Amino acid sequence: MSKALAREVDKRRTFGIISHPDAGKTTLTEKLLLYGGAIQMAGSVKSRKAARHATSDWMAMEQERGISVTSSVMKFEYKGHEINLLDTPGHQDFSEDTYRVLTAVDSGLLVIDSAKGVEAQTLKLMDVCRLRNTPIVTFINKLDREGLDPLDVMADIEEHLKIECVPLTWPIGMGQEFKGTWNIYKNELHLFSAVHEGKTQEGLVFNDVNDPRLEEYLGEFAVQLRDELELLEGAGNPFDKERYLNGEQTPVFFGSAINNFGVQEMLDAFVELAPAPKSRPTTTRDVSPYETDFSGVVFKIQANMDKNHRDRIAFMRICSGKFTRGMKVKHHRVGKDFTIANATIFMAQDRTGVDEAYAGDIIGIHNHGTIKIGDTFTTKEELKFVGIPSFSPEHFRRVQLKDPMKRKQLQKGLEQLAEEGAVQLFRPISNSDYILGAVGILQFDVIVHRLKEEYSVNALYEPCMITTARWISSEDEKVLADFKDYYRSDLAVDAEGCLAYLAPNPWKLESAQERYPKVVFSTTREIR
Ligand code: G4P
Repeated sequence: MSKALAREVDKRRTFGIISHPDAGKTTLTEKLLLYGGAIQMAGSVKSRKAARHATSDWMAMEQERGISVTSSVMKFEYKGHEINLLDTPGHQDFSEDTYRVLTAVDSGLLVIDSAKGVEAQTLKLMDVCRLRNTPIVTFINKLDREGLDPLDVMADIEEHLKIECVPLTWPIGMGQEFKGTWNIYKNELHLFSAVHEGKTQEGLVFNDVNDPRLEEYLGEFAVQLRDELELLEGAGNPFDKERYLNGEQTPVFFGSAINNFGVQEMLDAFVELAPAPKSRPTTTRDVSPYETDFSGVVFKIQANMDKNHRDRIAFMRICSGKFTRGMKVKHHRVGKDFTIANATIFMAQDRTGVDEAYAGDIIGIHNHGTIKIGDTFTTKEELKFVGIPSFSPEHFRRVQLKDPMKRKQLQKGLEQLAEEGAVQLFRPISNSDYILGAVGILQFDVIVHRLKEEYSVNALYEPCMITTARWISSEDEKVLADFKDYYRSDLAVDAEGCLAYLAPNPWKLESAQERYPKVVFSTTREIR
């Protein structure tokens, strides 16, 4: 291991934001980019979002696609750290990609609206984080509005997300009476003030919370603060970095993203606490980011804007070694050498050519469909990274063809679009239907439009009686054969030939699980 390589790895932080729509992810992202100097003006991330969500019309989406590619990864520097913020698309864009992005990060930032507490999408995303015990820092947002009692918000997180909360800052009042935050470990008071753009914000330092000067700044809120801190000290757990790194405990910060308040304190702690790139498992061994031989894994494929060139961008997370422009690597699934001549690195709003990159960095590689999700690239040893799964879809449609002569094109289109990973294609074993499964329903519209635009196929959807899917396996071949016989009409194979049970309703799934205890029903499947 070279010292220079270790230095580069150690300063990297690669993370994603976990939140429910409207909790403030976009607003917070923008403030983080301001601190990183990656954008100069407040409002630029916001306006992109407005454009992206103004319409779900495909042409508009097509135009926006270039933008969403660049905003998929936002790289910026902060206090000597190289930060890769991976976008976790929400709203209508919500798809399997959102889940899969979380398998490519080393840590997460959970954003909670203080008036709402834990919401549905947060629960789902945290489930994915739990698969890998991803360390999570929490930011409780919108303290400038009336919200729930901070203790209740933390109790809600503990109960629903099964992670212990340890506040590192504590809010003083809320809404109209929001006074600021107290930094519990530094004994520092941050008085609330409205937007201060990217400027750093110094706290007022006190010896301890009993300092009588506190009354000068907070009036009667000083007593309330002391009482609440005493309560926390008695009831709460101390911060334990190991437990944070194991995903068992989350440090909690309070603030208001729109006012850029509490953000810097959170970011400072984040770069200090969050892990540098970690080792990643392969089918044969764990690969350390400090190994000098290059390795990387693809976790996302995105179609390019220009539909005349059906090229795609593969997002690769570098797992070890140093990437240099024009590097020759082995594409193991295909068994061929591959020269990465045109890799792109994503800087906030621009894409630029990349000369070198290290573990934790994400590079984009243009290709014409040769690269698939889960593909591993290395310079030497033959490896296959694991931990980039498919997630079981939650919405289903049966595809209907308007022109039966176009069946071949339909199949090719669906297979290729499914390879990009935003939808899954299932073929029932008892008939010749095409069933699409998705995690977010916008993807269905996208597929119909793209089939027409890119494959000249007019397709439409029929509703179908499927509510959930599970991948099926069993060590007992006889049991599996019996299961297949019994549930034949509800079974299908996915695009990689794996067997799935498409349940018409949750009760039928439950009864199948009871009837066949030796069959494993999985909600995720490793991509081959
Ligand atoms: P998202 O990406 O998680 O969906 O959330 P986003 O940042 O777009 O924020 C959702 C709404 O919450 C926005 O209001 C935003 O201005 C507001 N917001 C974000 N942070 C705070 C905060 O700290 N305090 C308060 N009071 N509001 C906050 P909007 O009305 O939907 O949009 P806009 O008209 O402000 O653009």
